[in-house]
Amino acid sequence: MSTYSRSLTDRSLPLLAQGYAWLPHRMRRSPAHVVRTRLMGRPALTVRGPDAVRFFYDERNVRRHDAIPGPVLGTLFGHGAVHTLDGPVHRVRKELFLPLLDPASIAGLVEHVTDAWDDTVPAWERRDRVVLFDEAGVVLTRGVCRWAGIPLDDADAQPFARDLIAMVDGFAALGPRHWRARRARGRQEERLGRLIEDVRAGTVTAPADSVLDRVARHRDADGRRLDTRTAAVELLNVVRPTVAVGWFVAFAAHALHHRPENRRLLRSGDMAHVAAFVHEVRRFYPFAPFLGGRAARDLTWRGEHVEEGGLVLLDVFGQNHDDELWGDPYAFRPRRFLEHPVERDELIPQGGGDPRTGHRCPGEGMTIGLLEALSVRLADLEYRVPEQDLRIPLSRVPTRPRSGFVVTGVRVPA
Ligand code: HEM
Repeated sequence: MSTYSRSLTDRSLPLLAQGYAWLPHRMRRSPAHVVRTRLMGRPALTVRGPDAVRFFYDERNVRRHDAIPGPVLGTLFGHGAVHTLDGPVHRVRKELFLPLLDPASIAGLVEHVTDAWDDTVPAWERRDRVVLFDEAGVVLTRGVCRWAGIPLDDADAQPFARDLIAMVDGFAALGPRHWRARRARGRQEERLGRLIEDVRAGTVTAPADSVLDRVARHRDADGRRLDTRTAAVELLNVVRPTVAVGWFVAFAAHALHHRPENRRLLRSGDMAHVAAFVHEVRRFYPFAPFLGGRAARDLTWRGEHVEEGGLVLLDVFGQNHDDELWGDPYAFRPRRFLEHPVERDELIPQGGGDPRTGHRCPGEGMTIGLLEALSVRLADLEYRVPEQDLRIPLSRVPTRPRSGFVVTGVRVPA
């Protein structure tokens, strides 16, 4: 049985039907925040909470090799991606991504993306309606390509954005969404693979120390350069998640619409409020439902057992909405982050632990920087929110406002 059809058996069906609610629903019956379940035909131990994050990110307990199902690799991450590596091999590949943590690098990306936003938004004034989710994707694609050194003609920005969004949108879906994601990945791995070959052959010049340049030159733990497909996969692992920040842009617009008092706080220029708003957007709105690895040995967590090779799942959405950690977790309340600083292993929309040594997202600082800059720009922008379906279905993974957040009557303040 293929991994894909196996994923249709046992508890995977409720997962597909219940989406984000699946694990939190099962966790509700466990005061110790640990449940045993089955996923893709394998026993799985599900854990939650800051201690569980440390347990999950300890490589002696959980490894990633062979943990991510084929359909997710074929859409979201790509085969051979950094996400699938363990130990020294992971550490050497991760060096490729560590410059993303550098504040100067974050500032550079934010500048390119905000330039793209400032160039694009005046044209929205002449349009009847703008679907913010779609347009944010194009702006982010333009900005990240310029920053990463990837050549992009103006006419190619929209189709590239569409492919990058499709790869994320289809990773947990069946049917057309899944196949659209696979085709998008195939197309872009081929195109970027050719670009890497051109850079290596010297027929295209990558700006020194750009992401493109570093991926083309990177050597893995075995001392060899990445094969062209893996190089394209890792180039996409910078560009694709940057464009995925568009999900959070749509969520930020949703939050400003339903909690308009935040607009004034964002306009005030008080960066502590801006940061708190962005953390609350990342905590409150659903994106990654959970993370998975394989038990590196027979494991017991809070009295529950899983054998070596079984799955261990970290309940990301559940932890970001855990009443014990957040109090009134289903209220959108940025102030909570002014009252209580962010703890490394409490707020985990982009994974937990240390991004330098573990699998935590190395793009978290970039996500925060981009979202701060774009949320402030959104708060400054004048627009109307016409009647539309703004529901965010929890049964859809990844989810977003159904309408994509439509705005009309856009005016850029002088
Ligand atoms: C890993 C979420 C933005 C690059 C991850 C992980 C999550 C995540 C949940 C997995 C952590 C784990 O396996 O333990 C997000 C979200 C983003 C975002 C929700 C915003 C929409 C970014 C950006 C970049 C990036 C902007 C790069 C510029 C990566 C890479 C990994 C990763 C390379 C793999 C790290 C590893 O396995 O060592 N991200 N991310 N992400 N993210 Fe992000």
